[in-house]
Amino acid sequence: MKISNGVKPLIVANWKCNPAKEKEAKRLFNSVKKTKAVICPPLIYLKSLAPYVGLGAQNCFWEKKGAFTGEVSPAMLKNIGCQYVIVGHSERRRYFNETDEVVNKKLKSVIEARMIPILCIGETQKQRDRGETENILKKQIEDALNDISKFKIQNSKLCIAYEPIWAIGTGKPCDPEEAQKMGLLIRKIISKIYNRTVAQKTPILYGGSVNSKNGASYIKEAGLQGLLVGGASLEAKEFVDLVRKIC
Ligand code: PGA
Repeated sequence: MKISNGVKPLIVANWKCNPAKEKEAKRLFNSVKKTKAVICPPLIYLKSLAPYVGLGAQNCFWEKKGAFTGEVSPAMLKNIGCQYVIVGHSERRRYFNETDEVVNKKLKSVIEARMIPILCIGETQKQRDRGETENILKKQIEDALNDISKFKIQNSKLCIAYEPIWAIGTGKPCDPEEAQKMGLLIRKIISKIYNRTVAQKTPILYGGSVNSKNGASYIKEAGLQGLLVGGASLEAKEFVDLVRKIC
């Protein structure tokens, strides 16, 4: 299915810290590669799944190389055939103290390495209850895009994933109607930073308890341009079903 702007929906599988064995990773990959989704396995499996158009990393460091124990640079990812990098996932913000400033550095480095960044933003339940969602999203986007020119953003093919934290891994997805509103809000924020053209061309993805039953509604009803799928991307049949209902 083509969506309104003629671009095919972008479905991204975020395997997070799964599965435990390379053999299982290869098996899962072989069962889902026909979907042509973007697959983001743990870093250690990337090389054994390459080459594949649509290989993504879940994270990266911001420097090219040097004395940074334990880190992997965008250049290294690019060199093994990675095309996408998830930046600023809420689990990284929460468990690894990634601030908006860090997210900005990572975003710049991914753009510089000519990979496509998938920037994650989203509010907590508390922030939502306090009516702070709009301000939180605005700050996350403005800070992430700080000091990145319109020209660079246009060339980067940046995607933004709206992932409300209260919906991630909880089995309580955001209503498609609300996701649609958030998509419009995100476009408004980007439009203010750059312009309407940039805003319209930026694919907005939804993530948070997406499965084969609800996935299509974010594309067909909410008019969003893609999905970031966690848990449901670890079950081959479920994930293939999900993608089949959309693409
Ligand atoms: P979930 O995770 O689909 O398991 O809710 C989504 C994500 O964190 O990207």
